[in-house]
Amino acid sequence: LALVAPLADGIEALRKELTDHNMQGFWDMGRELDEFAFKEPRGKFQPYIWKWDDISRLLGRTSDLVGLGGHGETARRTLRLVNPALRQSSNSMTHTLHTSIQLVNPGEVADAHRHTMGAIRFVVEGHDTFTTVENEPFPMEPGDLILTPQWTWHDHENKGSGPMVFVNGVDSPLMQYFGCWFTEPFPDKQQLWTKPVDFTRQHLGLLRPAGRHEPQDVAFRYPYTEARAALALLADGPGDPHDGVLLEYVHPVTGGHTLPTMSCLLQMLRPGERTQAHRHTSSGMFHVVEGRGVTVAGDVRLEWERGDCFAVPNWTPHWHENLSAEGPAILFIVSDRPQLEAFGLYREMSEEEHAAQLAARR
Ligand SMILES: [Fe+2]
Ligand SMILES: [Fe+2]
Repeated sequence: LALVAPLADGIEALRKELTDHNMQGFWDMGRELDEFAFKEPRGKFQPYIWKWDDISRLLGRTSDLVGLGGHGETARRTLRLVNPALRQSSNSMTHTLHTSIQLVNPGEVADAHRHTMGAIRFVVEGHDTFTTVENEPFPMEPGDLILTPQWTWHDHENKGSGPMVFVNGVDSPLMQYFGCWFTEPFPDKQQLWTKPVDFTRQHLGLLRPAGRHEPQDVAFRYPYTEARAALALLADGPGDPHDGVLLEYVHPVTGGHTLPTMSCLLQMLRPGERTQAHRHTSSGMFHVVEGRGVTVAGDVRLEWERGDCFAVPNWTPHWHENLSAEGPAILFIVSDRPQLEAFGLYREMSEEEHAAQLAARR
C-alpha cells in the first residue's frame, strides 16, 4: 500500500498538469490496451426509409405555405431527409451525403447561385422544366440525371404547367467537415441561355473541337430513355450476384466516377431477383424509380416502392429483392465510393468472405 499511494498521486498530478496545458495521455483516451487488436467499423448512421406518400404530402403542404424567392421566402423549396442517427450532427441522410426533395411550381425560378458543394439532380416529375448550368439549359424529364459540379452557376426553372420535383444529392457533409463551405449568389435572378440544349454533349462526343482542353468538372445530363435502354440491353446477361444489373453514370471526360465525391448508379433487379448479401466501406442513398421490393440492411427490413428514398450505411451487410414476379425494379443510387477510394479505404466483401475472415481470427 505504501508503494501504490504515491504512484496514484503521481498519475493524478500528471493528469491535472496535462489538462492544464491542453494535453492528454494516450492511456487516458477511453481506450483499452487492445486498441490495435482486430476491430471493424460500425455503420455511421442507421438504415432508414422515407416513404414517397409522406414526402409528396408534406411537399404539397410546403408548397401552400412557403414561397420561392426573396424577402422572407426561401431560395430553395426543399425537404431535407434527416437520418435519425445524424440529427444532432450533420443533420443529413448519410454521414457523407445530404439528400433533399425539391419542388418548383409552374412559372417559378429557383435563383442562380454557386457553391463548393457538388450536386446531382434526379428528376421525379417535370415537363418543360430546366436546370441551367453555366448558361446551358439542361431539360429535366422524369428519370433524367443532371450534374451541377462544384462551383458551377446553376438555377432551376419550371416553364411547364405541372410541378417540377427532383431529388438533390449534395456532398455538403464533406464540405462541412473540411470547412470549405463557400457560396455565392449570381448577380441576376437567373442565367441567360447563351448555349443551345445538348451543347456539352455534342462537345464531348466522339467528335470534339480540335485541340480543346476539356475541363474536369462539366455539367451533364443523362436522359432516362438512354439509361433505361442500356439496362434493358444488359438484362439478359448474368448480372452480378450482389448488385443485379448495375450501371454507373460515368464522368463524361474521365470515364471515371460521376463526380469527384459521388458515384451515381442505376440498378435493375429483374422480376423476382434476390441478390446475395455483401458489405462495403461506402454508403449510399437509394431512390426507387420503378417497381417495388425489399432491402435488408443489418437487421432492418426496408420495404420500398416507387418514389421512396432509403439509406444503407457503411460496412453493413445488405441484400435486395424485387417483390414483383412480372416487372423489373429500378433503383437510382448515389454512393460515396469515390471519397473512400481517394484515400485507399474502399473495401468490399461477400458475407461468406466476411464470416470466413472472422472465423480465421478467432
Ligand atoms: Fe445549389
Ligand atoms: Fe451494395
